[in-house]
Amino acid sequence: MEVRLEPAPARAQLVPSAYPASAVWAYNGQVPGPTLRLRQGDRLRVMVRNALSEGTTVHWHGVRVPNAMDGVPLITQPSIEPGGGFTYEFTVPDAGTFFYHPHQRSYEQMGRGLAGALIIEEREPPKVDRDLVWVLGDWRLDRDASIRGGFGNFMDVSHNGRVGNTVTINGRVREEFAVRAGERVRLRLINAAAARVFALEFRGHRPWVIALDGQPVEPHEPEGGAVVLGPAMRADLILDMTAAPGTRHAVHDRFYRQLEYKLVDVAYSQEPPLRARPEEPVRLAANPLAEPALAKAERHEVVFTGGMMGNMRGMRRGMAWALNGASGGCGESASAFDPLFVLRRGQSYVVKLVNDTTWHHPIHLHGLAFRVLNRNGRATRHREWLDTVLLDPRETAEIAFVADNPGDWMFHCHVLEHQAGGMMACIRIT
Ligand code: C2O
Ligand code: CU
Repeated sequence: MEVRLEPAPARAQLVPSAYPASAVWAYNGQVPGPTLRLRQGDRLRVMVRNALSEGTTVHWHGVRVPNAMDGVPLITQPSIEPGGGFTYEFTVPDAGTFFYHPHQRSYEQMGRGLAGALIIEEREPPKVDRDLVWVLGDWRLDRDASIRGGFGNFMDVSHNGRVGNTVTINGRVREEFAVRAGERVRLRLINAAAARVFALEFRGHRPWVIALDGQPVEPHEPEGGAVVLGPAMRADLILDMTAAPGTRHAVHDRFYRQLEYKLVDVAYSQEPPLRARPEEPVRLAANPLAEPALAKAERHEVVFTGGMMGNMRGMRRGMAWALNGASGGCGESASAFDPLFVLRRGQSYVVKLVNDTTWHHPIHLHGLAFRVLNRNGRATRHREWLDTVLLDPRETAEIAFVADNPGDWMFHCHVLEHQAGGMMACIRIT
């Protein structure tokens, strides 16, 4: 598949049409950018031309690409200067729900709208009536629907990031999601927000989670009744429309205490049910990931510190966060950097992640997927494969992977203001 992507200033109607359109930054004039859909094992070729007035890159979040295609300025490629171009080309090894976004000043470039879905279909996709994508966006808008400035201010950086005030589904505040009774929908959720965490509750429905971060998982109902997605995380749901024709059922986001709101209404048409009762949940075939050999694994530990109310060392340099005591390794301005770890190709690793802060952090590793073995010492039920793991305040998690993709890979918090504030490093696989 061959596509052109042009990041450029554009206008988009994010909010109801009683308000004006907003000035955004968009891929091909669309917010979110065009959904790229291809088949597992296909080759993707993307010609990017930068029509912004600043440098950018495109990162293929969660896709196990060769390092040179990873879209990280200074580390895997030069920045694409205004007016310049770059061609990405790689084969997609895993089926699943992924997304693309800039990796340069991403706290502002994504905050202004640059992100799009990348859907890799299974060679034999499971049978559903509709396969839909919801790219969840979060915007900080003023009353005239314009995007508020102040990106990267120290308040956002040192607290929970730039959580906005307007949540969109596929680039628009939506009233309803039209469905028919009895149909089965595969709903691919992508959290493309800079900082907002979602906890989606589908009232009157019993969704099955069948994949996380694109990787198949044992079908299960979400723990605690809500699908929790930190920034950059994805979930594939099987949603059976089991309610009655003509009814409405709210989808609520209840992640932030006291700030629960209705995201959208599931609105049933009057048509008679498509089928009487739902079929068995769909099980997806595993992707070709190497299984870590835990008995022979080497171990590392990463301690995340900082933030308001945390340890304030480093703040004088404008760095609010640190990994193992260092801030901003592999930053966009550092041409020289030291990797956090040097890993040997083909070796299995267990990395203990210690969140020694009072904040949530979605921790992302490029180039690989990892299994989450345990959280706070308790084995995870599904040993899920992820590329971004949401650490709760003070939480510890152990992840495991085979270091099978050589290169320098970014390892960072996906609250983009935390990343900018030093919560990033590189892991080298040689
Ligand atoms: Cu979604 Cu380092 O990125
Ligand atoms: Cu963070």
